[in-house]
Amino acid sequence: MDFYEVVRTRRSVRKYRADSSPQEVLARVLEAARTAPSGSNRQPTRLIVIKDEQTKDKLVPMCHNQAFVAAAPVVIVACGRDIKYNRGEWMGRHAMIVDVAIAVDHLTLAARAEGLGTCWIGSFNNAALKEFFGLPEDVDVVALTPIGYPEGDPFTEPEGRIPLEEFVHWDAWK
Ligand SMILES: Cc1cc2nc3c(=O)[nH]c(=O)nc-3n(C[C@H](O)[C@H](O)[C@H](O)COP(=O)(O)O)c2cc1C
Repeated sequence: MDFYEVVRTRRSVRKYRADSSPQEVLARVLEAARTAPSGSNRQPTRLIVIKDEQTKDKLVPMCHNQAFVAAAPVVIVACGRDIKYNRGEWMGRHAMIVDVAIAVDHLTLAARAEGLGTCWIGSFNNAALKEFFGLPEDVDVVALTPIGYPEGDPFTEPEGRIPLEEFVHWDAWK
């Protein structure tokens, strides 16, 4: 699939079919996340891949009752270790979150290329998830996503984006 078509037609998918993707498809998507860049190649990202039905159901209240999270055959919990690395000034504090976000973006685009839907979940209770999974103190959750074949064809053109002239400032902020 053409790269720009992948980027253009990746949508947040909130309705999923029950059938799982073949393991080799999931493996390719996970590999796309693994090979994402990170600051100084420190690779703070770790993914918890959940297929167990009961575990998926338990995630819903921790995602502020977004029930569709458990509707996909697989849910991925993207975690990051605090790399305690000051990349310089204020970005030092956000380095891990940036790195995990890049990996998750690779994952969502690779999923789209495979015909799989995802939905970035940023509304969740980090403390509850940390306790549930027994994450180490210096590891936090940055995002979750269900992943699976969508119901229907949600891979439409993007809507509601600001125009390029507003998005891009050439040469200076103006
Ligand atoms: C950081 C982030 C957090 C998000 N959190 C949620 C969420 O908790 N629940 C949800 O249904 N969608 C969530 N979304 C999806 C956005 O609502 C969606 O990406 C946006 O409306 C654009 O739609 P599209 O992804 O279909 O292009 C999140 C997206 C991002 C990037």
